[in-house]
Amino acid sequence: MDRFVLQGPVGPEIIIEGKSYLFFGGTDYLGMAGRPELARGAEKAVARYGISSSSSRISVGTTELHLELEKVISRFAGTEDAVVMATGYMGMDALLSAVLEKDDMILIQHNAHSSIREAVAVRTPSCLEFKIDDLGTLEEALRKISGEAGRIIVVAEGVSPLFGTVFPLPEVLKILMERNSLVLLDDAHAFGVLGEHGRGTAEFHGCSQTNTHFCATLSKAFGAFGGCVPGSLRLTEALRNRSLAYQGATPPPAPVVGAALASFEYFAENQELLQKLHENAGLLKQGLTRLGLPAENPSVPVAPLCLGSTEKMQNLCERLLEQGILTPFSTYPGSPEGGMIRLAVSAVHTSEQIGFLLECMEKFI
Ligand SMILES: Cc1ncc(COP(=O)(O)O)c(C=O)c1O
Repeated sequence: MDRFVLQGPVGPEIIIEGKSYLFFGGTDYLGMAGRPELARGAEKAVARYGISSSSSRISVGTTELHLELEKVISRFAGTEDAVVMATGYMGMDALLSAVLEKDDMILIQHNAHSSIREAVAVRTPSCLEFKIDDLGTLEEALRKISGEAGRIIVVAEGVSPLFGTVFPLPEVLKILMERNSLVLLDDAHAFGVLGEHGRGTAEFHGCSQTNTHFCATLSKAFGAFGGCVPGSLRLTEALRNRSLAYQGATPPPAPVVGAALASFEYFAENQELLQKLHENAGLLKQGLTRLGLPAENPSVPVAPLCLGSTEKMQNLCERLLEQGILTPFSTYPGSPEGGMIRLAVSAVHTSEQIGFLLECMEKFI
């Protein structure tokens, strides 16, 4: 049974069993999920288009709203086009369908999100792994690939959901320089989060190479739902022609698309949210450092806490809960054995709220 059941929208404060808690988890990075603007966007869309379009994109399931959202996303991402699909989970599968050719060799990040691992597993029974915190493993994997193989396709998370580690794109591109290669990133936790405009991992690193593609989700920073792949017209056309997930699934329902459109509009009018998110991430990380805890990646709003024993971590979560703070203990796939605490801040946490979390942690750790 799920222990915590929400009785209202997600946000910096949530209601569980009739009680309000400060919430430092989840992925509502820009604080959009509970915004009334998104609810109004959803209401307007449902009034006009109903709920489901009841068909896949290629069989009369596309509404005007889906096309509008694709335009808005491509404008935001600075790409020629974008494809919207049912879930973010389908993103890497759709990207691989679009780009993979016979003889290509896939190199996958160790412990990548299940959506990436499953997308790769259906295409190749065995692939080589590398670790993003030890790029010697990438060089070693490359040495194992014969000269007769096709392109090298590197697949990874832009930002790791649990540890908040940023994919070292410039270093990886440098290692791949001599090879015919593509890098495919799942930017679920980077889209709307990293970079000057929130475009994600490539913008964060200032990389604009044409051999880097990414997929993202609308369910995290943008507070709505559904997956997307922004990219060149060549990429999106290949995806629409080749991805069975895109062709076979009903796209996100109209109210969800209406909410996503409202979210991009709100973000465009409130650009300071991104700066606030980075400030809050910095505040949390500085505070953790003061407590003697590891706190890397200062602009990423996710901080992992691995405190040795499960008991110690669960104990801390319970003490914090008594103070009205919910910091979820995570056994999400990819968590270390024994679990971890995954802290996350959003753009709409106040500095007082973050200060209170740190103060309580100092008392109980
Ligand atoms: C890295 C990563 N990719 C994909 C997904 C799936 O996205 P969605 O939940 O929007 O389908 C998640 C988490 O939900 C994730 O953490």
